[in-house]
Amino acid sequence: AIGPLVLGIESSCDETAVALVRGDGTIVAQAIASQEAEHAPYGGVVPEIAARAHAERLAPMIAKVMGEADVSLDDVDAIAATAGPGLIGGVMVGLVSAKALAMASDKPLLAVNHLEGHALSPRLADRDLAFPYLLLLVSGGHCQILAVEGVGQYRRLATTIDDALGEAFDKTAKILGLGYPGGPAVERLALEGDPRAVPLPRPLKGSAEPHFSFAGLKSAVLRAVQSGAYSPADIAASFQQAAVDCLIDRLTRALRETGPMPALVVAGGVAANKTVRAALETLAGEHAMRFSAPPLALCTDNAAMIAWAGLERIARDGDDFAGDPLDFVARP
Ligand code: KG4
Ligand code: ZN
Repeated sequence: AIGPLVLGIESSCDETAVALVRGDGTIVAQAIASQEAEHAPYGGVVPEIAARAHAERLAPMIAKVMGEADVSLDDVDAIAATAGPGLIGGVMVGLVSAKALAMASDKPLLAVNHLEGHALSPRLADRDLAFPYLLLLVSGGHCQILAVEGVGQYRRLATTIDDALGEAFDKTAKILGLGYPGGPAVERLALEGDPRAVPLPRPLKGSAEPHFSFAGLKSAVLRAVQSGAYSPADIAASFQQAAVDCLIDRLTRALRETGPMPALVVAGGVAANKTVRAALETLAGEHAMRFSAPPLALCTDNAAMIAWAGLERIARDGDDFAGDPLDFVARP
């Protein structure tokens, strides 16, 4: 493994994560602690519980990862942490920890935008992926189409006017009584259902405006459940199909705006969904685009992508590289 070594910290939602990553993309060591069990009784992430759990776990996890890699702070070139957007209590825990380490070791701090972490993670997994690429970023909090033109150069082409797609998966799971987290549960149940069984809307499909909308789809799922006319598996499969149809329609529209793009890339937690991936791969094939999707572990929240976003900045800036100020403010 060669290149600078960056310690990454992620704590913006319900995963506490630490990773050591090299400039050549080697993940030297990493750890992820999920808070699923803590939040499950509430059917969603409770911010105060999340912040406390991050505070309890982060320091021992940093020590464990450094120990596994047999490195000390002297060997680390910079310390990167998610600085937002996210649940503010958790973001503050991670960012303050990174600041403390940076201050104590006199190493640069890298305050990383969580979405930039997701946007660049495909290049960590796929080292031949060059700029520019069309990125579909689909997570629990975001649903965007971006033209990624370089490190720090992101042009937003579309966003959601109401719910993020991951949120729609989670709500559908809740309505169907599948528990939390919902995305993987809906995907599993959908395998047993018929995607054409339930007539569901495709909000904004064919619209000239660029954005996504999933609130109407969510309400339609609720009405379908309440009607008692359909099996849960058919509802799950039909919901997933409606969501995929929306994604493909909006991406096709974005491609008309950008003109030909060399690659289509998907990132964020919903990118773990196999039906979503397969549809995107087909779309990419139709447009002669290369398709790239990070492995599942890099799609959901993790610290390797945060370290990697820092490494991308270090590589871009070369001798001009400077860290962020220690009074960098966490963003909710
Ligand atoms: O990127 P992520 O880990 O956290 C955020 O920054 O939001 O994304 C989590 C979201 C959740 O809404 C979760 O239900 C969804 O990604 N998700 C999935 C799948 N796995 C995770 N949605 C659909 N199918 C999946 N297999
Ligand atoms: Zn995320």
